[in-house]
Amino acid sequence: MTEATSVMKVSAQERLSQAVARYIEETPLTAPVEFGTVGEAGSAGKTTALVTYAALLAQLGFEVEVVDLDGQGNASKHFGIGVSDGLDDGDKGDGLLVLGKEYSPGVKYPAPLVLGDALLRRKAQFPGEDEPRAITLDDIRRCAYNESGIPGYGVVVPSSDANTIAWLKRIHIYPNGPSYVTGEKIDFYRDEAELAASDPLAGMLLSRRMDKVQSAPHFRGYDLHGTKSMSMMSALVRLKRAINCVLLDDKTTGVDLTHLKETITSIQEYNPDLRLSMILPCRVKASSQRGKFGQEMLDRLRKRHGEIVPDVEIREAVTVSEAYNGREPLPMWVPRDPVTDDFRNSLAWAFENGVFAP
Ligand SMILES: Nc1ncnc2c1ncn2[C@@H]1O[C@H](COP(=O)(O)OP(=O)(O)OP(=O)(O)O)[C@@H](O)[C@H]1O
Ligand SMILES: [Mg+2]
Repeated sequence: MTEATSVMKVSAQERLSQAVARYIEETPLTAPVEFGTVGEAGSAGKTTALVTYAALLAQLGFEVEVVDLDGQGNASKHFGIGVSDGLDDGDKGDGLLVLGKEYSPGVKYPAPLVLGDALLRRKAQFPGEDEPRAITLDDIRRCAYNESGIPGYGVVVPSSDANTIAWLKRIHIYPNGPSYVTGEKIDFYRDEAELAASDPLAGMLLSRRMDKVQSAPHFRGYDLHGTKSMSMMSALVRLKRAINCVLLDDKTTGVDLTHLKETITSIQEYNPDLRLSMILPCRVKASSQRGKFGQEMLDRLRKRHGEIVPDVEIREAVTVSEAYNGREPLPMWVPRDPVTDDFRNSLAWAFENGVFAP
C-alpha cells in the first residue's frame, strides 16, 4: 500500500485526533492561541469556519473563546445568543431571531437578552433580574450552553445529551450585534474604534482591551468582517494567525487576496508576528458542478499559495445553509453534518502545518 492510500484510509476524526495529540506533545500550552477568520467577500464562510472550528476544538477537550467582532452578530447567533424581542413581525431578513418561534422541531427561541460590553463596564438588564446592573466578565464569558436556563442565552440542548453539553460548556462567547430589547447596537469593539478611526494606532485598542481579560482559554477565535473594516484591522494588530476564507472566484482569489496581503504587510509594522497562515477555499462546489472556471481558480490558488492552502476544501453543503437559515444553533448540527469532515481535515492540516505554533 502506498503512503497516499494509507493516508486516505484515516478518517477525518482520526486524522484530527492524531494531529492534535502530536501538537500537544510538542507544544507547551501556555498562552492562548489567538486566530481570526478573515476575507473581504461577504458570505464566504468566515463565521461558519470560525464557529465550526470552535466547536471542533471544544469537542477535542480545549477551552475555547469566540470573540464576535462583527456587528451582524452571526457568531453569537450560532450559539443562541441574540434573539429578537418579538416586536418585529417576523424575520426581517437582517438575521434577527423571532421570539417564541419554533425554527425547527423542538428549537424555539424564547425571551431576549440584553448584553453589553463587560470591558466597557456597561450596564444591562438580564432576563430574570429586575434592575439593570454593571455587566461582569463572568456574564459576558458565559458558556454557550445555557446551564442556568437564562432565556435567549445559549444553546438549548436536550438534557440527556451529556456529551454535547460537555463540549458546549467549553465554549465561551463575547457576543456582538444588536440588542433586541433596546434596539441599540452592542458592539464589542466598534464604538471605540470609530471614535479613534483617525488614529493610526486605533487598532491597538482591541489589543489593550483583550489584554485586560483574565481568562486563559487554549484557543481564542475572532470572527471578523471585511478586510477594510476597523475591527478587522484592530484584530490583526493583535493576532498572529489569520485564516482567509475564499470563494472560488476572481475577486476573492485575486483582488481581495492581494489587498489582504498588503494589509497584513502594513500591519506587520506594528505586529511582526502576524501571518496569513491559511487560505481556506470555502463552499466549493462538487467537481462536476464546479466548471472549468472554478477548477482553474482552485488550481491557481494551489499553484500560487500552495504552502498555505490545506489539502482539503470545504464543500458546499446544502445542509449548512439550511441549518443557518433555519437558525438552528450551529453546535447542534456540527456533529452530524458530513461537511464537518472537511472542517476536521482542514483543522488537522492546520495543526500539522504549524498554523497554531506558538
Ligand atoms: N460549506 C458551506 N456550504 C453551504 N453553505 C454554507 C457553507 N458555509 C457557509 N454556508 C452558508 O453561507 C452563508 C454565509 O456563511 P457565513 O455567514 O459563514 O459567511 P461570512 O463570510 O461569515 O459572511 P459575512 O461576510 O456576512 O460575515 C450562511 O448562510 C452559511 O450557512
Ligand atoms: Mg460572518
